[in-house]
Amino acid sequence: MKITRLGNTFAALAGGVDVRHPLCAAEVDAIEHALAQEGVLVFRAMPMNDDQQQALIERFGPPSEVKLEELKTAKSAHPHFFDVSTVEDDGGKLDPNSARGMYLRANLLWHTDGSQAQPPIRLTALSARRLPAVPPDTEYADMRAAYDALSAARKAEIDGMKVEHSIFYSRSKMGMKVADWAEDAFKKRPPVVHPLVRTNPLTGRKSLYLASHASHIIGLPVDTGRALIEELTEHATQRCFVYAHKWAPDDLVMWDDRWTMHRATPYDGDDARVLRWSGVLELEPV
Ligand SMILES: [Fe+2]
Repeated sequence: MKITRLGNTFAALAGGVDVRHPLCAAEVDAIEHALAQEGVLVFRAMPMNDDQQQALIERFGPPSEVKLEELKTAKSAHPHFFDVSTVEDDGGKLDPNSARGMYLRANLLWHTDGSQAQPPIRLTALSARRLPAVPPDTEYADMRAAYDALSAARKAEIDGMKVEHSIFYSRSKMGMKVADWAEDAFKKRPPVVHPLVRTNPLTGRKSLYLASHASHIIGLPVDTGRALIEELTEHATQRCFVYAHKWAPDDLVMWDDRWTMHRATPYDGDDARVLRWSGVLELEPV
């Protein structure tokens, strides 16, 4: 596998491996190590079908189940995939004020996939199925470089802190209300608690673990904790820590959710943009 750095501190082009074909153990190992070092890997020219995407994610761990029955469409219904799409099944533009529209609009907020779950998502694989002529970028932030740049006092202060994450918190920021969710949604997705600082088991490097789902810090007054989360998010998403991915047709992008955050950038064009999302879970609670 040939790794070519794309960003300042992370993110790389991964060449020389065809992720559409069954991966041997050495290839899986090489990708795992590259993800631990680079955080974001771009595999170019990988037109994928669902079976290939499913086989790919299963090589890295248990696929994340998508529990969004209320937001799935007939076309995108799949136990492990979710379409980040700008169109409805009939090709019409997605209504930004529909529950699905609001849910997807929250991707504009800096977030980490699956931090609202326990165990959380470890890796994401996103397959470009349809792109407009000028697709919007997806931005990634290096939470490891952001952690390194904190003062020693700040590091000492936040080490050991625990954060509550909830999907309902991030979605409320986009205007979703209780009535927009299926009745059992709250029971199915209770809030979870994760450390604010994580250590990558392969590299030993520490990173911030933040997301739009991060609601407050356990043991601190809610407003104090929220202000700290906001301050750290602002710090971690300064341009020096960000890589903006420019999508090309048939890109398959994989990223390490343990130490990167990402966000969509605005797109309001009429041409469809469909990215098929899939995630791999951690084996243990975090
Ligand atoms: Fe995401």
